[in-house]
Order: sequence, then structure tokens, then C-alpha cells
Amino acid sequence: MIRLFHVYKRYGEYPPVLSDVSLQVEKGECILLVGKSGAGKTTLLKLLYAEERADRGRIVVAGYSFSEMTRSAVPMLRQKMGIICHETHLINRKTVFENVALPLQIIGIPRNDIKRRVYDTLQAAKLYHRRDHYPPHLSNGERQLVSVARAIVKQPPILLADEPTRNLDTDLSWIILERLKQAHIAGTTLIVTGHRGPLFPATRCIRLQNGSLTPEERS
Ligand SMILES: Nc1ncnc2c1ncn2[C@@H]1O[C@H](COP(=O)(O)OP(=O)(O)OP(=O)(O)O)[C@@H](O)[C@H]1O
Ligand SMILES: [Mg+2]
Repeated sequence: MIRLFHVYKRYGEYPPVLSDVSLQVEKGECILLVGKSGAGKTTLLKLLYAEERADRGRIVVAGYSFSEMTRSAVPMLRQKMGIICHETHLINRKTVFENVALPLQIIGIPRNDIKRRVYDTLQAAKLYHRRDHYPPHLSNGERQLVSVARAIVKQPPILLADEPTRNLDTDLSWIILERLKQAHIAGTTLIVTGHRGPLFPATRCIRLQNGSLTPEERS
């Protein structure tokens, strides 16, 4: 599902963030990616959704080989993904319902199905009562929840989540982790960055350190 071969990435003239990253993630795996602040976790996820390009090495995601992929193929790649990142990218002039419905509209799901799926997702995310609100009127945590709902609503084959529970209290963190768990059970392949915790059902934990990956021993 996801393959990286000897990936190298640096920003400008700074030392490389990723110097030799190789990784194979099979369908249905749930990977927890840990590492110190600045280790390159966000950078690695950005490479996977083609927000940044590797300087060297090979990346293949969902059948797309990035070295041969044109810019016009990036939206098609991202249709196979749910992306949860810190910049929530919600549209302020659209309601919560409309924001979450957007990925389904883009892939051409019929209107009635959209309504049902968005309502189900909002209910599961405990956001149903906020469905007609606009993002600027929500708390930071609620906005983060909306971005999770928007990422999972289309039940994507791949879900990339960058510290999805950062700065959230335990209640909201629990709701988000539960949603990720359900996506995993439904067969989605997940890569989640963050810290090890008892709540997260990772099938594998890997550490990013000094520009490359090492398996993290279970404790
Ligand atoms: N656009 C950029 N231009 C220049 N340097 C960058 C850019 N983005 C990230 N970096 C640098 O790359 C390094 C890795 O950053 P990255 O955000 O990937 O780390 P991280 O592991 O996600 O950290 P954190 O746990 O704090 O989120 C950092 O030293 C950062 O300053
Ligand atoms: Mg980061």
C-alpha cells in the first residue's frame, strides 16, 4: 500500500531531515510513527500526500509512483486518502455539515447518501449538534474533530494523521482515537504520528531518529 525506498529530503541548504528512510506498509496496517520534535514526522507524512517532494529515493503510494507522477495526478492520489494535519484547512464560509460533505461531493456520491453518511459521521464524532455552525464559531478542539470527520467520511483506503490529539483534552482525544480505531477495523491503512499510549491500537510502532526509521520495541 505504501512503499518508501531510501528516501532523502532536505529543506534548502540545511542538513537533511530524512537521510535514508525505507518503509513498507501493507494494507490494513496501523502504524504509529514516533520521534522527537523536529525529527521529521510531519515531513514524512507530507511526502506521502505529495505536499513535499523527496530529493532522492522512491515513493509508491496506492499504486502511484511519485517520481513519474505529474502534478495533475496529485488530487487523484489524495482521493484515496484522508489527511489530518495541524492546519485543519476548513472552509470558514461553509457549515460543519458542508465541510464534512465536501470530500463525498468531490467523488460524486448521490445527495441522499451524502446526507446519511455525513450525519452518521457527525454523530459518531459527537458533532451532530454543531452541524449548522461555521468553523470560526467552534473551539480549536471542535475544529480538529471536524477535520477528523472530514478525513474519515469517505472511508479512504489510507489515512494519514499528524498528531491528531495534540492539545486536546482526554474526552476529545478519546473520541478521535475511537474514530481512528473504527477506521482501522473497517480496513483502512493508517499512519499516525504521536506518542505511545495505551489507547492507540497500533499494529507497529516505528521511530524516526537521525533521519531514518527504526522499529520501536514494545514495552
Ligand atoms: N518548509 C520548511 N522549510 C525549512 N525547514 C523546514 C520546513 N518544514 C520543516 N522544516 C524543518 O525540518 C525539521 C523537521 O520538521 P518536522 O515538522 O517534519 O518535524 P516533526 O518531527 O514533525 O516535529 P514536531 O514533533 O515538533 O511536529 C525541523 O528541523 C524543521 O525546522
Ligand atoms: Mg510535526
